Amino acid sequence: IPVKIFTSPAKGSAFAAQEIATLIKDKQAKKEDCVLGLATGSTPIHLYAELVKLHKEEGLSFKNVITFNLDEYFPLEHEAIQSYWSFMHRHLFNHVDILPTNIHIPNGEIAKEDIKKHCQKYEQLIEALGGIDLQILGIGNNGHIGFNEPGSSIFSKTRLVTLDNSTRMANSRDFQGISQVPRLAITMGISTILKAKKVILLAWGNKAPIVAKAVEGHVTEQIPASILQQHNDCLFVVDEMAASDLT
Ligand code: F6R
Repeated sequence: IPVKIFTSPAKGSAFAAQEIATLIKDKQAKKEDCVLGLATGSTPIHLYAELVKLHKEEGLSFKNVITFNLDEYFPLEHEAIQSYWSFMHRHLFNHVDILPTNIHIPNGEIAKEDIKKHCQKYEQLIEALGGIDLQILGIGNNGHIGFNEPGSSIFSKTRLVTLDNSTRMANSRDFQGISQVPRLAITMGISTILKAKKVILLAWGNKAPIVAKAVEGHVTEQIPASILQQHNDCLFVVDEMAASDLT
C-alpha cells in the first residue's frame, strides 16, 4: 500500500481535501455525480473543516455529491450528540450545499427487525449509483475499518455488528462512560469498502503500530485494514508519528 507521510495531521488533511475537491470538480465538468464514502471519529475532523473552507472560500459546490457514511451506532437516535448522523451534520453537511436527499447514513433508529432490509437497500443504492468513487477511512487501534472488527469476513456487506470492547473503550470519550456506549453498530462491510474505486485511509498520532501491521504485515481478517493490500487504488495518508513504525 503506498503511504504518503505529512509533517502534521493538518497538512495530510489538506491533501485529502484537495483529492476530494479535484474529484468533485472532475465529475462536475462531466455532469456526473460524485459518490463519496465517509468516515467519522477524531481522524477526519480536520478534513471536513478543510472541505467547508473550500466551499466557503473557493466556492467548491457539493450539489453533485452523494455521500454514504460507513457506520452508525445501534440503537441511537439521530439527534444524540454521539450519533454519527449528528457528527456529520455538525462537521460537514450543515456547512455546505449538499442536498439532504443525497446524504446516506446507516439508520441507528430503525426497528431491529428491519435492519436486514435496511442494510440490503444500502448496498443496492450504492450499486445503483455506480459504486463509491472515493472512500475515506480511519483505522481503529485493533485494525478495524468502518466497524468491521477483527475476524470480519472479506466478503462481509453492510450489516449489524457487535463492537469490540476495545472500540467501546476508545469511543467512551464521547459518552458518559463505557456502559453508555452502544454494544452494536451498523457498518458497511469489508467487501463494500473493497468495491470503492479509490480508497484513502487517514491515520495520525498514536496509530503507528497498527499502520505498520496494515501496510507491511500479512493480509489477515484479524487485521481488517491489512485486507486493503488487495485493493488496487488505496493510499494511506499519515503524519510522521503514525508512520514511525514503518520500515
Ligand atoms: C468511524 C469509523 C472507524 C474510525 C476508527 C478510528 O466512522 O469508521 O473505523 O475511523 O475507529 O477512530 P478515530 O478517528 O476516532 O481514532
